Amino acid sequence: MPSEVLIFESLSSTNTTAYDLARNGAAHGQVVWAKSQSGGKGRLGKKWRSPAGKGLYFSIILRPDLAVEEYPKLTMTAGLAVAELLEKDCGVAVGLKWPNDVFISGKKCCGILAEASLADENTDPFAIVGIGLNVLTEHHEFPEDIKETATSLLLETKKSFSLQELLKKLREHLLIVVTEHESHGFAAILKRWKKYDFLRGKTLEWVTSTGEVIRGESLGPDSLGKMLVREGSGKIHEVLSGDLSLAATKKEASTSDAPFKI
Ligand code: BTN
Repeated sequence: MPSEVLIFESLSSTNTTAYDLARNGAAHGQVVWAKSQSGGKGRLGKKWRSPAGKGLYFSIILRPDLAVEEYPKLTMTAGLAVAELLEKDCGVAVGLKWPNDVFISGKKCCGILAEASLADENTDPFAIVGIGLNVLTEHHEFPEDIKETATSLLLETKKSFSLQELLKKLREHLLIVVTEHESHGFAAILKRWKKYDFLRGKTLEWVTSTGEVIRGESLGPDSLGKMLVREGSGKIHEVLSGDLSLAATKKEASTSDAPFKI
């Protein structure tokens, strides 16, 4: 592996290590890859289980030619890059669940955690995009609480993909898609992203920060990457990632009213 990929047997979190490296000037495209993580971070304070030899856990440092206000959109840019690569190279039909989960056959195969440098950091701005991809996990190896909602490339394709090869290809494609975001704008990314929109037309239910439960139909992300949801009354809500806990039920074919967490 070239030096743009730093390899570790184990880290607490590749996002944390990449963040420290970026603060010390590490370049755009630098990858931190750990074979396992003891404190893998998921969105909304969740943990990302990262057992050795089962998945790909890496973070890439980005210093895109974009205004820092654009950085939150990189999470969708990264999701698109993963979806396109998995579809092309692994031959799987992929769905993207806003804001950034990658689904195969209705189950989560990959999660993305993007973090940006703080405005008061004494460095040029940067973003860290952390990717956790279930590659070689067998069904019985998933923890009980995610056994029925998680999947891996092995389970979906019956093929054993090389972690190293996947990482190389993912890094290359991600950097290409980020360049496209820079040169053609987010609209071009969003157009492609919508092709994979897993939630569109489905009924979403979420609890706002004030405790109100709202249910409505997903209209997909808008031009800023915010999710639009239409209530039964016709009122359209903008759902921001991170400040709401979001749950979804299938619009049709729902056998139960119990929404599943995303
Ligand atoms: C999520 O779906 O909640 C996001 C999961 C992101 C996990 C990856 S694994 C590599 C990188 N390092 C971390 O600590 N988290 C991300």
